Amino acid sequence: MAHNVFADRRTRFLDAMEDGVAVFKSWPVHVRNGDVDHPYRTNSDLFLLTGFDEPETMAVLVKRGADRKYVLFVRPRDPEMETWVGKRAGTEGAIRDFGADEAYDSALFFDRLPGLLTNQPRLYLEFGLDVAFEGRVSLAIEALKGEARKGLCGPWQIIDPRSILWDMRVVKSAHDVQVIEDACAITVAAFRAAMQAATPGMNEGELAAVVEFEFRRRGAHRVAFETICASGANAATLHYIRNDATLGDGDLVLIDAGAERNMMSADISRTFPTNGRFTPLQRRVYEWVLKAQEAAIAAVKPGTTYAKVHEAGLKVLVEGLVDLGALKGKPRSLIETGAYRPYFMHRIGHWLGSDVHDVGPYFVDGASIPLRAGMVITIEPGLYFADAPATPKALRGIGIRIEDDVLVTDKGRRVLTEALPKTVDDIEALMADRGAWWRTVQPVTVPAGKKAKKSAKPEKAGKAKKKSS
Ligand code: GLY
Ligand code: MN
Ligand code: MN
Repeated sequence: MAHNVFADRRTRFLDAMEDGVAVFKSWPVHVRNGDVDHPYRTNSDLFLLTGFDEPETMAVLVKRGADRKYVLFVRPRDPEMETWVGKRAGTEGAIRDFGADEAYDSALFFDRLPGLLTNQPRLYLEFGLDVAFEGRVSLAIEALKGEARKGLCGPWQIIDPRSILWDMRVVKSAHDVQVIEDACAITVAAFRAAMQAATPGMNEGELAAVVEFEFRRRGAHRVAFETICASGANAATLHYIRNDATLGDGDLVLIDAGAERNMMSADISRTFPTNGRFTPLQRRVYEWVLKAQEAAIAAVKPGTTYAKVHEAGLKVLVEGLVDLGALKGKPRSLIETGAYRPYFMHRIGHWLGSDVHDVGPYFVDGASIPLRAGMVITIEPGLYFADAPATPKALRGIGIRIEDDVLVTDKGRRVLTEALPKTVDDIEALMADRGAWWRTVQPVTVPAGKKAKKSAKPEKAGKAKKKSS
């Protein structure tokens, strides 16, 4: 990604902040066990302003009128550690490759902080995330106030920079949309593969692996969240990630998955029959969910509120629940009393971006916020019939969610994931040759990565082999 994307974001952030100093800190590394860490992913706010994804990083932005400074505190180069876990940018790389005006070893952060904060009117710091770090910053400010007779003072105000940054994040730039579209295209291809790979008798985990295999070979850097592959009644568990059951013949399987590429996410759900053909009842339930999704998507446009989009989908789902015999009564009063909640217990969707459940307000002063061009929202209604005594018998074990990623445009909307089939007929057509994916797997050319250096010329290795044989 070009670094000016990050420089542009820093400029926009600095333009919006008042004079002072902003500090952003990376997430800590979490140990899994032994010498093994959980896969690392840094703080999205820090990344979006810097492009820097290493742990133990602090980014500092200083603004004083027209004067601006960008300082990175990073892990220093360390040949031994780099031998074990890979290259570091170091302070030189932070300046050369990431545009910092100054860069220091992160171990020096608290030595340099008083100098950065002296006589600054305010500090912007994300609080509530790392209280030990925040406590040390507070003590540094307090120590500065003790130097008043020398003419020194620390900031009087601490402001959470997310009050600025999250407003920036909720409305995507053209560049952000392009990166989300890349993640969506990878995810669409992976879902097509899964639909063509699925067959009764497979394990949910095996099908999830097909999705993630396609993510990886098409250039995803990681999953945006743990892949959900839920067959039969497992689909009634909204974030089911055990993925260890066998796909039953005649069951539906719900996959909810998303690729992450360049720190931007996709998030798609599709539900399809493991054997390629919906039963008449599955089809009926499915078509109610689809109708609800279409109604909610049609409601997406600038000026409409998030609440109105939710209501558009909910209204159809409740009509469906009455039609299917799961509820009795007038849809309006079933909505008012919340009687539908055992079968639809979440909201219509969420902002999508760097985080799969992306940041940004949904309500301001109690009022649902209006949609604006550039927002990206998932639309994901579902009906979930748990295998439980309270569920009407015929419907037990059917769980359906249909989820697409929708960009709000000047005139209305664009569904970024519309290339993926979702009508019953289109899904059945795609699955007509059930299991076909397994016959079509071939290496594809992934976007060029870094070339590993060769240690020996292949001809030499060949000759050596000949001699010894
Ligand atoms: N993938 C989680 C969700 O759809 O919200
Ligand atoms: Mn979602
Ligand atoms: Mn999802």
